[in-house]
Amino acid sequence: MTLNFSEKDTALGIETRTETTTIAARCFALVPCAGSGSRAGTLKPKQYELIGGKSMVMHTLAALGAVERLQHVVVVVSPDDAHAWPDAPEWPSHFRRMACGGATRAESVFNGLTALLKEGEHNPAAVQAHDWILVHDAARCLVTELEINRLIDACLDDEVGGLLALPLPDTLKTAVHGRVSQTLPRQDKWLAQTPQMFRAGQLHAALQAKAKENFEGVTDEASAMEMAGFAPKLVVGSPHNFKVTYPSDFALAEDLLGSRK
Ligand code: C5P
Repeated sequence: MTLNFSEKDTALGIETRTETTTIAARCFALVPCAGSGSRAGTLKPKQYELIGGKSMVMHTLAALGAVERLQHVVVVVSPDDAHAWPDAPEWPSHFRRMACGGATRAESVFNGLTALLKEGEHNPAAVQAHDWILVHDAARCLVTELEINRLIDACLDDEVGGLLALPLPDTLKTAVHGRVSQTLPRQDKWLAQTPQMFRAGQLHAALQAKAKENFEGVTDEASAMEMAGFAPKLVVGSPHNFKVTYPSDFALAEDLLGSRK
């Protein structure tokens, strides 16, 4: 895993590889876990609801914990939820929480990444700007080690990074007042999932550029990177890696997790 720096000869307008420095980039994970989950209809934030006897986020963390290439996994929780984690003692030693969640998902990711990169200023073992950060929703508890490794394999040598996503299987409609106004071509449409894997410094800069506008339009990390001019790579995920969002999703998640045992 290397990063090659080259110098640009602006007078000639050509790129010349006058000097090449090799820096090993490592993989870290950041899990936004600070949402209220209002669409789920649960009393507490959905990521803490039990699925098959274990809180949803613990299923998510079990998948991340199985990926050997992840150096550290940081879970960004809301400052209000810092105490609300009954099964935290089960955590692997390279996991920890940061109670710096924000008002939106993008803000939670930005706050977590800002804190991580600040730590890296004084500690070379902590996240550096050239390291990869995999951002994964706490609410996607069905992701597998295999899918995460597929993303890492596909992106490690990529200039930009990318995300798990699914080609749209169904016909896509737009609606006005509950009636179809148009059928859209689906050939080039994908459903974005997580993890999304980018260089920590580039992702932080892309989010920072949108911070003043309250992260308007930033619905995932890839959208921030796109606004910064990058074209993230699409890596085929799985239909099972859905985000638990609505009340009926809990039973489906429980069935699928149960069927894996
Ligand atoms: O609300 P939604 O399901 O889209 O959230 C996706 C993920 O982002 C969840 O894991 C949720 O906990 C997290 N999130 C967050 N901070 C927020 C809102 C959502 O970390 N303010």
